[in-house]
Amino acid sequence: MKQKDLLYKGKAKSVFNTSAKGKLIVEFRDDITAFDGGKKDVLKNKGKYNAEVSAFFFDYLERNGVKTHFFTMLDPHRMVVRKLEMIPLEVIVRNIAAGSIVRNYPLKEGTPFAHPLIVIDYKDDARHDPMLNDEIILALKLVTPTELKKIKEMALKVNRLLSMLLAAQGITLVDFKIEFGRQGRTIYLGDEISMDSMRLWDKKTGGSLDKDVYRFEKGDVMAIYHKVAERITKPMNKRR
Ligand code: ATP
Ligand code: TYD
Repeated sequence: MKQKDLLYKGKAKSVFNTSAKGKLIVEFRDDITAFDGGKKDVLKNKGKYNAEVSAFFFDYLERNGVKTHFFTMLDPHRMVVRKLEMIPLEVIVRNIAAGSIVRNYPLKEGTPFAHPLIVIDYKDDARHDPMLNDEIILALKLVTPTELKKIKEMALKVNRLLSMLLAAQGITLVDFKIEFGRQGRTIYLGDEISMDSMRLWDKKTGGSLDKDVYRFEKGDVMAIYHKVAERITKPMNKRR
């Protein structure tokens, strides 16, 4: 399979067409951004750590019955995926109050929710990704009611599976964002699941193990990404 022309260049990843029908290559670059692109840097190896963790999670989710776009890794930065018609929704699952929900509502950071909360934003940079509700999602005809139900079920299943896996490594899954796409009538989990798109707290120290380290300059971002990638993909008993 050959990499062909650039299809799309986002803030952190580039997507390429390939010689194989229905397959794309996603390249995880070393670019990192926060605050709607207001803070930007290039951090050596960032793409590699995010790609490694994403691939590990996609493989784990597939083995547990979640349909994902993931096929294989070509090299540490490049992932072969199923070409999807992406649905412009940022599906956020929250277990504990943190980030924008604490800034926008009277919730204390660190308060666990009685049940995981699903918050859906409209992926539209020009409009700064406004929050949606089910009625707006359906009025915009972004998905059918059946698709919306399926997306929510899948998001909660991903949350259960990832929370379990991370808890075993001493990590709390506070919240995360995922994106979905369709091929025909089937909904697949697409994009990435990485330190850029999750909020992870160390169970022992309470310290951040994700992009909040970059957002709020809490420490050596790449040292933390490196350590957390090892911790997730090579648990203690499997490390040499
Ligand atoms: P954001 O950072 O808000 O997600 P972006 O567009 O800048 O936005 P990148 O991650 O840099 O994000 O770009 C990757 C792009 O590839 C996204 O637009 C994403 O929706 C798209 N994408 C991810 N998986 C697939 C797929 N399987 N098929 C087609 N497009 C995909
Ligand atoms: P949120 O608290 O809404 O925003 P912020 O992190 O900017 O304060 O984010 C919730 C989770 O979803 C967090 O783990 C980061 C992730 N996320 C993304 O990866 N991309 C996004 O565009 C948004 C809004 C959130």
